[in-house]
Amino acid sequence: MSRIIAIANQKGGVGKTTTAVNTAASLAGKGQKVLLVDCDPQGNASSGLGVRLEPGAPSFYSFLVGNSSPAPIRHPLAPSLDLALLPAHPELSAAEWEIVSVDRAEHLLGRRLASISDDYDYVLLDCPPSLGLLTINALTAAHSLLIPLQCEYYAMEGLTLLLDTFHRIKLRFNPDLRIEGVVLTMFDRRNNLAHQVANEIRKHFRFRMFRTFIPRNVRLSESPSFGLPALLYDAGCPGAKAYLELADEILNEGGH
Ligand SMILES: Nc1ncnc2c1ncn2[C@@H]1O[C@H](COP(=O)(O)OP(=O)(O)O)[C@@H](O)[C@H]1O
Ligand SMILES: [Mg+2]
Repeated sequence: MSRIIAIANQKGGVGKTTTAVNTAASLAGKGQKVLLVDCDPQGNASSGLGVRLEPGAPSFYSFLVGNSSPAPIRHPLAPSLDLALLPAHPELSAAEWEIVSVDRAEHLLGRRLASISDDYDYVLLDCPPSLGLLTINALTAAHSLLIPLQCEYYAMEGLTLLLDTFHRIKLRFNPDLRIEGVVLTMFDRRNNLAHQVANEIRKHFRFRMFRTFIPRNVRLSESPSFGLPALLYDAGCPGAKAYLELADEILNEGGH
């Protein structure tokens, strides 16, 4: 059975897409069959993997709202990695409006994914920076929620809001949803505030906090412009190594 992990945080720029792309590549690098689903109309996960769609091309949007059979578009990237992508482009922003009137709209993605997810060991959902219907769909379809968190002053407030949403979705739509864990991103060891925030979270967060910290690493921000995950851009860089460690933690403790 596949394991579906939603990567979400309503705040933009905290490292969701970087985490989604690089964790997907790392899991694939460890021999897993992985599908990365770009649930964000901004399409950053798609462009970060070198995929730019023409308007109207089959995509996550047609997968979600189309009446056609929900076969995904698969873009095998590097032949060495068993990594497929369901890409997005901006017309997906209309989907949020189009699906509100659908019966049990929160369950749409879950229903669509049911027909394909068993082809994969892991399905990662890269969520948009909001708690709107697309993110609610991702959390309703997922087995678990992985939360990338940047160590900054308001991190705890943001986390509390996200956990409220988690509990509400668990109560109403997806009783089995659990927390995969919090991963600290863009971590700077020399920054005292980063350590303080990390300690705060460790004190108050009663779910798993990954041991792996993702360091601030320029290779991670460069690799999308080459359409590559860091693992294929510069396998030895600290960012690529950190995401491999994160993948190990997911594999070892994910109850897969
Ligand atoms: N660990 C990191 N080190 C350096 N830059 C990073 C790191 N993680 C993310 N970034 C950069 O920060 C920006 C926001 O990251 P992104 O993953 O797109 O966040 P989100 O999907 O949450 O909006 C991007 O430009 C990305 O390249
Ligand atoms: Mg993003």
